[in-house]
Amino acid sequence: MLPSKISIGRNFEISEIDPRVYGSFAEHMGRCIYEGIYEPDSKFADEDGFRSDVIELVKELGVTIVRYPGGNFLSGYDWKDGVGPQSGRPKRLDLAWHSLESNQFGLDQFMVWCEKAGVEPMMAINLGSKGLSEALELLEYTNVDADSKWANYRVENGVRKPYGIKVWCLGNEMDGPWQLGHKSAKDYATLASDVARGMRQMDENLELVVCGSSGRAMPTFGQWEETVLEDSYDLVDHISLHVYFEDHGNTQEFLLCATDLDLFIDEVCNIADAVKAKQRRDKTITLSLDEWNVWQLSAYQGLERAKTWELAPRIIEDEYNVADAVVVGNLLISILRRSDRVKMACLAQLVNVIAPIRAEKGHPAWRQTTFFPFAYTARYGKGKTLITRIDSPKITTEKYGTVSALDAICTYDESSNSAALFMVNRSLADSYTTEIDMTGFRDITVVEQVTISDTNLKRTNNLEVGEAVQPNKEITSIAKDGKIQVTLPPASWQMVRVSLH
Ligand code: AHR
Repeated sequence: MLPSKISIGRNFEISEIDPRVYGSFAEHMGRCIYEGIYEPDSKFADEDGFRSDVIELVKELGVTIVRYPGGNFLSGYDWKDGVGPQSGRPKRLDLAWHSLESNQFGLDQFMVWCEKAGVEPMMAINLGSKGLSEALELLEYTNVDADSKWANYRVENGVRKPYGIKVWCLGNEMDGPWQLGHKSAKDYATLASDVARGMRQMDENLELVVCGSSGRAMPTFGQWEETVLEDSYDLVDHISLHVYFEDHGNTQEFLLCATDLDLFIDEVCNIADAVKAKQRRDKTITLSLDEWNVWQLSAYQGLERAKTWELAPRIIEDEYNVADAVVVGNLLISILRRSDRVKMACLAQLVNVIAPIRAEKGHPAWRQTTFFPFAYTARYGKGKTLITRIDSPKITTEKYGTVSALDAICTYDESSNSAALFMVNRSLADSYTTEIDMTGFRDITVVEQVTISDTNLKRTNNLEVGEAVQPNKEITSIAKDGKIQVTLPPASWQMVRVSLH
């Protein structure tokens, strides 16, 4: 077997990690909000109707920021339907997911929930069926302290102090023909720039995210980013990118899919930097990967559209297995590796809908397999990322060419004087024993080692079997002279945490 080695130097920093890379996403879709986050008649509901067991798991997951209210839902949504007395709120058709929206949960409920869950809101504004004036009214409602119509309406609804929401997404996936109000890059660029300009006239303290591509395989990818940024470069802070990966039956290939995210991030940075160079700007646009996950999308696309309009129907409640958890762990490694440019990222979604947390009526909420790599990375992937050199055996597939079997990133947290190594073995067949060389750190001790692997990669957690998949917390490695030997089973994720002396 070929030797492998992971080398980390204490002084070779990539970047500070923005805690908002551990974000998630709550859309009015299926049972994410209703029966997931909000279920007033549940035995787990608190005084506001929120599932308290779900809130506890959100905290354990370590989520920092939550994007809301969509997603595709956003492009047909009128935020005004979701504020004011609940008894007077209209039921509306949601064209994106062919459902009925009760509007019992809206902006003010979301803000209370954010407070309870300890997360920051990332608000998205509808640029599909709505535009500039609705965006400004919404911003006035959330952020303005004045004797004006929408600010007063917020006060009337019981919220005296403005929320001061900082992060705003200018629409959702506007490049996608499936999007209500889908636009050409040029039309979207004009609208997004107008809205950004107007919003900044009302509030100078905003971070604005302009829509990039909803996938690297979109035919407009590249051209879209260039056109949009050419118009909006000075007005926005981040550009979005969305990615979903799926096991199409070739699990070896699936295990390598983070390669695609690596390329996607690099390409978006290159395009943004080309615009920067052409426009001779100092400012650098950063990335908001505000939807990413594993999703058996083709199974959903094969389904017939619902013939009825239901409240909170079951949609894409994917059950995640061990291979999915390894891939989620690897995607987090990719995100951290580019912590110099990826400043926000949202695991899509949070509860029930392609989510790490599942909830059913009458049963305590539970953790899917993908919960674990996210929770450990969010808890310990803090501080700075360090350049992590990987010498690894290679794997060749048709889709990704020849890439490393091992992938890894090291984070260093000065406040606790500790470092964490997040690693994956993406080989379906081979186990690797590898040496981690941290000699630059002088004295190190392994304090925690957590592995996710299974001889049955299809194993899942669900209502019947409970949380059958659990991380293995056995410490099998010790540090000697600044070096650690770790064994990574086939298709596995592992975290090794060391304290530094
Ligand atoms: O997360 C599910 C959907 O995926 C979102 O609504 C949409 O933005 C994306 O296409």
